[in-house]
Amino acid sequence: MKNYKIAAVNGDGIGNEIVPAGMELLQAVAQKHGFTITSDTYHFGAEHYQKHGCFLPEDGLETMKKYDAIYFGAVGLPEVDDTLPFKLFTNYIRTQFKQYVNLRPVHLWDGIASPLANKGKEDIDFVIIRENNEGEFVQSGRQMYPDSPEGFATDTSMFTRAGTTRVAHYAFKLAQKRRKHLTNVTKSNTLINSLAYWDRIIEEVAKEYPDVEYRKMYVDNASASFVLHPEYFDVILTTNMIGDILSDLGGAIMGSLGLGGSGNINPEGDFPSMFEPIHGSAPDIAGQNIANPIGQFWSAALMLEHLGENKAAADLMKAVHKMTASGLKTKDLGGDSSTQEMTKATIAALNA
Ligand code: NAI
Ligand code: MG
Repeated sequence: MKNYKIAAVNGDGIGNEIVPAGMELLQAVAQKHGFTITSDTYHFGAEHYQKHGCFLPEDGLETMKKYDAIYFGAVGLPEVDDTLPFKLFTNYIRTQFKQYVNLRPVHLWDGIASPLANKGKEDIDFVIIRENNEGEFVQSGRQMYPDSPEGFATDTSMFTRAGTTRVAHYAFKLAQKRRKHLTNVTKSNTLINSLAYWDRIIEEVAKEYPDVEYRKMYVDNASASFVLHPEYFDVILTTNMIGDILSDLGGAIMGSLGLGGSGNINPEGDFPSMFEPIHGSAPDIAGQNIANPIGQFWSAALMLEHLGENKAAADLMKAVHKMTASGLKTKDLGGDSSTQEMTKATIAALNA
């Protein structure tokens, strides 16, 4: 029987509730589909930092390398300097494991209406491909004399030909498997060096995919279009920061930030890929059994797809749709169902 080794990294806040919930669902899916999952749980994150002075131990990367994939919640706590979680954990893993594709699909769940009036399932169905290793988030900069009148701060973006080319190929290939439409969301009319170079490289790659309709759109217009014309989009290819911001907007038009799943993918398979919901650790609602687990469940389906278990992934998605269609809603969706209730109902739908 096929076995997959999964590193479960709860992280902080609601991660401690929704990652175990997702693992429970994954085990049920594995049992139904004739494979096994062995997992170990790692308590890396801001709480680990409070106790040990680091987000993950020195051999943390070596430890995680041995797994087929990483199933992650989110990191960050109000008591810990919030410039650290991305630098010392999320971005560290994403770059060290060359997870240069951040895949963030957006669609509606059965029974959960979009807050956009008159927009339904046929209108909201697209995938954001966010460049995940460079761009605005390389954290190359400094603060000088921050308390003085001459204080200043810089953050330099970095766009490389190799980094832009590889993520562009991934996005165009994905578009070929979908509705063959790709939108490059950019801001090259103002960032006339970095993003003009990004556009130029993407346009070169576009020529290799003549069957994919290519379009460029500025992020200000794209933000408005998410709300007014979400049906414009099939595959969106965008930069690290623009993708980060637009994917929360994607969560919002689905009905809640708690509904979005994502994959940090190393397409070559040289390193494990990491699957996590699009939101953060939500400390404001942690420990209350009210976190919406759907984004974490979707991330499990993306992980199964990545592992080649496409049928199991589709079945997992179907079970979540059945659960949402039955009317269960956590507080963020205007209901009063608990994390546990949603998890149990999804497993029941899977086995029905
Ligand atoms: P957040 O996404 O954690 O929360 C924003 C709002 O959405 C909150 O009101 C929260 O209660 C709600 N929310 C988020 N997920 C939900 C869910 N599954 N169910 C119900 N409601 C949900 O973003 P925020 O507040 O900006 O950041 C909190 C912490 O998370 C910070 O320390 C931040 O650095 C960290 N963070 C970590 C990320 C990661 O590990 N990949 C990503 C984003 C933020
Ligand atoms: Mg984000």
